[in-house]
Amino acid sequence: MSTITVSAPGKLMLLGEHAVVYGKPCIVTAIDQRMHATVTLTSEPLFHLDAPDVQVENYEKPMNILGEGDIPKGAKFVEQAVHNFLKKHPYSGGLTIRTFSDFHAQFGFGSSSASTVCVIGALAKLLNPSMEKKEIFDLSYQTVLDIQGKGSGFDIAAAVFGGTLFYVSPGTTIEPLDALELPLLIGYTGVKADTVTLINEVKKRAEKYPQDIERIYEEMASLAMRGREAVEKKDWKTLGELFDFNQGLLESLGVSSLKLALLIHSAREAGALGAKLSGAGKGDCMVALTEGNEKKSVIEALQTHGQYIEIACHAEGLRTE
Ligand code: PMV
Repeated sequence: MSTITVSAPGKLMLLGEHAVVYGKPCIVTAIDQRMHATVTLTSEPLFHLDAPDVQVENYEKPMNILGEGDIPKGAKFVEQAVHNFLKKHPYSGGLTIRTFSDFHAQFGFGSSSASTVCVIGALAKLLNPSMEKKEIFDLSYQTVLDIQGKGSGFDIAAAVFGGTLFYVSPGTTIEPLDALELPLLIGYTGVKADTVTLINEVKKRAEKYPQDIERIYEEMASLAMRGREAVEKKDWKTLGELFDFNQGLLESLGVSSLKLALLIHSAREAGALGAKLSGAGKGDCMVALTEGNEKKSVIEALQTHGQYIEIACHAEGLRTE
Protein backbone atom coordinates (compact mmCIF):
# COMPACT_ATOMS: atom_id res chain seq x y z
CA MET A 1 0.00 0.00 0.00
CA SER A 2 1.53 3.38 -0.96
CA THR A 3 -1.38 5.77 -0.64
CA ILE A 4 -4.02 6.25 2.02
CA THR A 5 -6.77 8.70 2.97
CA VAL A 6 -7.63 9.20 6.63
CA SER A 7 -9.86 11.61 8.50
CA ALA A 8 -10.09 12.95 12.05
CA PRO A 9 -12.83 14.96 13.76
CA GLY A 10 -12.80 18.53 15.03
CA LYS A 11 -13.73 19.16 18.68
CA LEU A 12 -15.67 21.27 21.11
CA MET A 13 -14.71 21.80 24.73
CA LEU A 14 -17.66 21.18 27.05
CA LEU A 15 -16.22 21.88 30.52
CA GLY A 16 -12.83 22.84 31.97
CA GLU A 17 -11.01 24.98 29.38
CA HIS A 18 -7.96 26.87 30.71
CA ALA A 19 -7.94 24.85 33.96
CA VAL A 20 -6.98 21.80 31.85
CA VAL A 21 -3.71 23.54 30.90
CA TYR A 22 -2.82 23.41 34.62
CA GLY A 23 -3.49 19.74 35.24
CA LYS A 24 -7.24 19.81 35.92
CA PRO A 25 -9.68 17.54 34.04
CA CYS A 26 -11.90 18.68 31.18
CA ILE A 27 -14.67 17.21 29.04
CA VAL A 28 -14.35 17.41 25.25
CA THR A 29 -16.52 16.05 22.47
CA ALA A 30 -15.48 15.21 18.89
CA ILE A 31 -17.71 16.66 16.15
CA ASP A 32 -18.83 15.38 12.77
CA GLN A 33 -16.90 18.11 10.91
CA ARG A 34 -13.73 16.36 9.82
CA MET A 35 -10.24 17.03 8.53
CA HIS A 36 -9.05 14.66 5.76
CA ALA A 37 -5.55 13.84 4.54
CA THR A 38 -4.36 11.79 1.59
CA VAL A 39 -0.75 10.68 1.95
CA THR A 40 1.22 8.99 -0.84
CA LEU A 41 4.68 7.44 -0.55
CA THR A 42 6.94 8.44 -3.49
CA SER A 43 10.42 7.30 -4.48
CA GLU A 44 12.17 10.67 -4.82
CA PRO A 45 13.05 12.10 -1.34
CA LEU A 46 10.85 15.18 -1.76
CA PHE A 47 8.09 16.53 0.51
CA HIS A 48 5.10 17.93 -1.38
CA LEU A 49 2.11 19.52 0.37
CA ASP A 50 -1.21 20.90 -0.83
CA ALA A 51 -3.48 22.33 1.86
CA PRO A 52 -5.82 24.66 -0.07
CA ASP A 53 -7.95 25.44 3.02
CA VAL A 54 -4.95 27.24 4.54
CA GLN A 55 -3.59 28.67 1.27
CA VAL A 56 -0.76 26.17 0.79
CA GLU A 57 -0.42 24.94 -2.80
CA ASN A 58 2.49 23.03 -4.34
CA TYR A 59 4.74 23.56 -1.33
CA GLU A 60 7.88 21.44 -1.79
CA LYS A 61 11.21 20.83 -0.07
CA PRO A 62 13.78 18.03 0.24
CA MET A 63 12.88 15.51 2.95
CA ASN A 64 16.25 15.98 4.73
CA ILE A 65 15.52 19.62 5.67
CA LEU A 66 12.00 19.19 7.05
CA GLY A 67 11.36 21.50 9.99
CA GLU A 68 14.12 23.89 8.86
CA GLY A 69 14.03 27.35 7.25
CA ASP A 70 10.99 29.52 6.56
CA ILE A 71 7.83 27.44 6.69
CA PRO A 72 4.49 28.90 5.51
CA LYS A 73 2.02 29.27 8.41
CA GLY A 74 -0.44 26.81 6.88
CA ALA A 75 2.27 24.12 6.48
CA LYS A 76 3.84 24.28 9.95
CA PHE A 77 1.90 21.58 11.77
CA VAL A 78 1.95 19.08 8.90
CA GLU A 79 5.66 19.54 8.20
CA GLN A 80 6.56 19.23 11.89
CA ALA A 81 4.29 16.17 12.19
CA VAL A 82 6.16 14.43 9.35
CA HIS A 83 9.51 15.48 10.81
CA ASN A 84 8.60 14.10 14.26
CA PHE A 85 7.22 10.86 12.84
CA LEU A 86 10.33 10.22 10.70
CA LYS A 87 12.68 10.91 13.62
CA LYS A 88 11.07 7.92 15.35
CA HIS A 89 10.38 5.80 12.27
CA PRO A 90 13.03 6.57 9.60
CA TYR A 91 12.07 6.28 5.92
CA SER A 92 14.19 7.18 2.87
CA GLY A 93 11.52 7.99 0.24
CA GLY A 94 9.36 11.06 -0.36
CA LEU A 95 5.79 12.08 0.48
CA THR A 96 2.93 13.81 -1.25
CA ILE A 97 0.29 15.07 1.18
CA ARG A 98 -3.05 16.75 0.54
CA THR A 99 -5.23 17.94 3.43
CA PHE A 100 -8.77 19.23 3.13
CA SER A 101 -11.39 20.07 5.69
CA ASP A 102 -15.19 19.91 6.03
CA PHE A 103 -15.09 23.08 8.12
CA HIS A 104 -13.60 26.54 8.07
CA ALA A 105 -10.30 26.93 9.99
CA GLN A 106 -11.79 30.11 11.57
CA PHE A 107 -14.41 28.25 13.67
CA GLY A 108 -11.92 27.05 16.29
CA PHE A 109 -12.83 23.39 15.78
CA GLY A 110 -9.15 22.46 15.96
CA SER A 111 -8.10 22.20 12.32
CA SER A 112 -4.35 22.33 13.04
CA SER A 113 -4.58 19.54 15.60
CA ALA A 114 -6.84 17.42 13.42
CA SER A 115 -4.50 17.78 10.43
CA THR A 116 -1.52 16.85 12.64
CA VAL A 117 -3.37 13.72 13.79
CA CYS A 118 -4.36 12.84 10.21
CA VAL A 119 -0.78 13.05 8.93
CA ILE A 120 0.71 11.04 11.80
CA GLY A 121 -2.16 8.55 11.59
CA ALA A 122 -1.68 8.12 7.83
CA LEU A 123 2.09 7.69 8.16
CA ALA A 124 1.52 5.14 10.90
CA LYS A 125 -0.80 3.12 8.64
CA LEU A 126 1.65 3.28 5.72
CA LEU A 127 4.98 2.83 7.50
CA ASN A 128 4.31 1.30 10.91
CA PRO A 129 0.88 -0.37 11.02
CA SER A 130 1.37 -1.73 14.54
CA MET A 131 1.53 1.79 16.03
CA GLU A 132 -1.00 2.19 18.85
CA LYS A 133 -3.44 5.10 19.12
CA LYS A 134 -1.70 6.33 22.27
CA GLU A 135 1.59 6.66 20.37
CA ILE A 136 -0.24 8.58 17.61
CA PHE A 137 -1.61 10.83 20.38
CA ASP A 138 1.84 11.34 21.97
CA LEU A 139 3.59 12.19 18.68
CA SER A 140 0.77 14.52 17.62
CA TYR A 141 0.71 16.29 20.97
CA GLN A 142 4.49 16.72 20.84
CA THR A 143 4.07 18.28 17.38
CA VAL A 144 1.53 20.81 18.67
CA LEU A 145 3.84 21.72 21.57
CA ASP A 146 6.78 22.10 19.15
CA ILE A 147 4.83 24.60 17.04
CA GLN A 148 2.66 26.42 19.53
CA GLY A 149 4.57 25.93 22.80
CA LYS A 150 1.39 25.59 24.87
CA GLY A 151 -1.77 23.55 25.06
CA SER A 152 -3.26 20.67 27.00
CA GLY A 153 -3.64 18.23 24.08
CA PHE A 154 -7.43 17.89 24.63
CA ASP A 155 -8.02 18.61 20.93
CA ILE A 156 -5.50 15.94 19.90
CA ALA A 157 -7.22 13.42 22.18
CA ALA A 158 -10.60 14.19 20.56
CA ALA A 159 -9.11 13.86 17.05
CA VAL A 160 -7.42 10.51 17.79
CA PHE A 161 -9.98 8.79 20.02
CA GLY A 162 -13.24 10.55 19.07
CA GLY A 163 -16.44 10.32 21.13
CA THR A 164 -16.72 12.36 24.30
CA LEU A 165 -13.77 12.25 26.67
CA PHE A 166 -12.92 13.03 30.26
CA TYR A 167 -9.35 14.22 29.71
CA VAL A 168 -6.37 15.12 31.90
CA SER A 169 -3.22 16.57 30.30
CA PRO A 170 -0.75 15.34 29.04
CA GLY A 171 -2.94 12.36 28.27
CA THR A 172 -2.66 10.76 31.71
CA THR A 173 -6.44 10.21 31.66
CA ILE A 174 -8.34 9.76 28.41
CA GLU A 175 -11.62 8.22 29.47
CA PRO A 176 -14.47 7.72 26.97
CA LEU A 177 -17.93 8.80 28.16
CA ASP A 178 -21.24 7.60 26.79
CA ALA A 179 -22.68 10.86 25.41
CA LEU A 180 -24.32 9.76 22.19
CA GLU A 181 -27.49 11.79 22.70
CA LEU A 182 -25.91 14.97 24.05
CA PRO A 183 -28.40 17.68 22.94
CA LEU A 184 -25.84 20.34 22.06
CA LEU A 185 -26.36 23.48 19.95
CA ILE A 186 -23.50 25.62 18.66
CA GLY A 187 -23.37 29.38 18.12
CA TYR A 188 -20.47 31.02 16.30
CA THR A 189 -19.37 34.59 17.12
CA GLY A 190 -17.72 35.32 13.75
CA VAL A 191 -14.55 36.29 15.65
CA LYS A 192 -11.33 34.25 15.49
CA ALA A 193 -9.86 33.50 18.94
CA ASP A 194 -6.13 33.18 19.41
CA THR A 195 -5.59 30.36 21.88
CA VAL A 196 -1.97 31.11 22.82
CA THR A 197 -2.66 34.82 23.40
CA LEU A 198 -5.57 33.94 25.68
CA ILE A 199 -3.57 31.35 27.64
CA ASN A 200 -0.94 34.06 28.17
CA GLU A 201 -3.54 36.62 29.30
CA VAL A 202 -4.92 34.18 31.86
CA LYS A 203 -1.38 33.39 33.00
CA LYS A 204 -0.80 37.10 33.68
CA ARG A 205 -3.98 37.27 35.74
CA ALA A 206 -2.83 34.17 37.66
CA GLU A 207 0.52 35.83 38.40
CA LYS A 208 -1.31 38.77 40.00
CA TYR A 209 -3.99 36.68 41.79
CA PRO A 210 -2.39 33.23 42.20
CA GLN A 211 -4.63 31.88 44.97
CA ASP A 212 -7.85 33.21 43.50
CA ILE A 213 -7.12 31.72 40.09
CA GLU A 214 -6.08 28.40 41.63
CA ARG A 215 -9.44 28.30 43.45
CA ILE A 216 -11.19 28.94 40.13
CA TYR A 217 -9.27 26.07 38.53
CA GLU A 218 -10.17 23.80 41.42
CA GLU A 219 -13.83 24.71 41.07
CA MET A 220 -13.61 24.04 37.33
CA ALA A 221 -12.09 20.62 38.08
CA SER A 222 -15.02 19.86 40.35
CA LEU A 223 -17.47 20.96 37.61
CA ALA A 224 -15.75 18.64 35.10
CA MET A 225 -16.05 15.73 37.55
CA ARG A 226 -19.72 16.45 38.22
CA GLY A 227 -20.17 16.94 34.47
CA ARG A 228 -18.83 13.45 33.84
CA GLU A 229 -21.50 12.05 36.16
CA ALA A 230 -24.25 14.17 34.57
CA VAL A 231 -23.22 13.00 31.07
CA GLU A 232 -23.25 9.37 32.15
CA LYS A 233 -26.71 9.73 33.72
CA LYS A 234 -27.91 11.75 30.70
CA ASP A 235 -28.94 14.39 33.22
CA TRP A 236 -28.93 17.29 30.76
CA LYS A 237 -30.58 19.67 33.22
CA THR A 238 -27.66 19.33 35.66
CA LEU A 239 -25.12 19.47 32.83
CA GLY A 240 -26.74 22.74 31.65
CA GLU A 241 -26.42 24.19 35.15
CA LEU A 242 -22.76 23.15 35.23
CA PHE A 243 -22.28 24.96 31.88
CA ASP A 244 -23.65 28.12 33.53
CA PHE A 245 -21.34 27.76 36.54
CA ASN A 246 -18.37 27.21 34.26
CA GLN A 247 -19.28 30.29 32.21
CA GLY A 248 -19.26 32.37 35.40
CA LEU A 249 -15.76 31.16 36.19
CA LEU A 250 -14.57 31.85 32.65
CA GLU A 251 -15.93 35.39 33.04
CA SER A 252 -13.73 35.66 36.15
CA LEU A 253 -10.72 34.59 34.11
CA GLY A 254 -11.53 37.45 31.71
CA VAL A 255 -11.97 35.36 28.57
CA SER A 256 -15.60 36.04 27.67
CA SER A 257 -16.69 38.83 25.31
CA LEU A 258 -19.75 40.89 24.48
CA LYS A 259 -20.53 38.72 21.46
CA LEU A 260 -20.16 35.49 23.46
CA ALA A 261 -22.24 36.89 26.32
CA LEU A 262 -24.96 37.94 23.88
CA LEU A 263 -25.15 34.46 22.36
CA ILE A 264 -25.02 32.78 25.78
CA HIS A 265 -27.67 34.97 27.43
CA SER A 266 -30.01 34.88 24.44
CA ALA A 267 -29.75 31.07 24.32
CA ARG A 268 -30.59 30.90 28.04
CA GLU A 269 -33.51 33.31 27.64
CA ALA A 270 -34.82 31.25 24.74
CA GLY A 271 -35.00 28.27 27.07
CA ALA A 272 -31.58 26.57 26.94
CA LEU A 273 -30.75 24.42 29.97
CA GLY A 274 -27.38 26.16 30.12
CA ALA A 275 -24.81 27.84 27.89
CA LYS A 276 -21.13 28.73 27.94
CA LEU A 277 -18.24 29.69 25.71
CA SER A 278 -16.21 26.78 24.34
CA GLY A 279 -12.41 26.87 24.04
CA ALA A 280 -10.00 29.70 24.72
CA GLY A 281 -12.71 32.40 24.66
CA LYS A 282 -13.06 35.98 23.32
CA GLY A 283 -14.44 34.53 20.07
CA ASP A 284 -14.95 31.22 18.21
CA CYS A 285 -17.97 29.25 19.44
CA MET A 286 -20.33 28.86 22.38
CA VAL A 287 -22.33 25.77 23.31
CA ALA A 288 -25.87 25.48 24.65
CA LEU A 289 -27.85 22.50 25.89
CA THR A 290 -31.54 22.17 25.05
CA GLU A 291 -34.23 19.61 25.56
CA GLY A 292 -37.57 19.25 23.80
CA ASN A 293 -39.49 22.24 22.50
CA GLU A 294 -36.89 24.89 23.28
CA LYS A 295 -34.53 23.73 20.55
CA LYS A 296 -36.24 25.78 17.84
CA SER A 297 -36.31 29.03 19.82
CA VAL A 298 -32.68 28.60 20.92
CA ILE A 299 -31.61 28.08 17.30
CA GLU A 300 -33.49 31.26 16.35
CA ALA A 301 -31.78 33.18 19.16
CA LEU A 302 -28.35 31.98 17.96
CA GLN A 303 -29.20 32.95 14.39
CA THR A 304 -30.29 36.41 15.53
CA HIS A 305 -27.14 37.16 17.53
CA GLY A 306 -24.48 35.27 15.57
CA GLN A 307 -24.37 32.14 13.44
CA TYR A 308 -25.95 28.80 14.29
CA ILE A 309 -23.75 25.88 13.19
CA GLU A 310 -25.43 22.53 12.82
CA ILE A 311 -23.15 19.74 13.98
CA ALA A 312 -23.42 16.36 15.64
CA CYS A 313 -21.10 15.66 18.54
CA HIS A 314 -19.61 12.38 19.84
CA ALA A 315 -18.13 11.70 16.37
CA GLU A 316 -15.77 8.86 15.48
CA GLY A 317 -12.02 9.44 15.98
CA LEU A 318 -9.18 8.96 13.50
CA ARG A 319 -10.19 6.52 10.78
CA THR A 320 -9.12 5.26 7.36
CA GLU A 321 -11.48 6.38 4.59
O1 PMV B 1 -9.30 27.71 21.61
P1 PMV B 1 -9.39 26.23 21.60
O2 PMV B 1 -10.70 25.74 21.09
O3 PMV B 1 -8.25 25.58 20.97
O4 PMV B 1 -9.40 25.78 23.14
C1 PMV B 1 -8.35 26.13 23.99
C2 PMV B 1 -8.58 25.51 25.34
C3 PMV B 1 -7.53 25.85 26.36
O5 PMV B 1 -7.82 25.13 27.54
C4 PMV B 1 -7.52 27.35 26.69
C5 PMV B 1 -6.13 25.49 25.86
C6 PMV B 1 -5.84 24.00 25.83
O6 PMV B 1 -4.99 23.59 25.05
O7 PMV B 1 -6.46 23.23 26.59
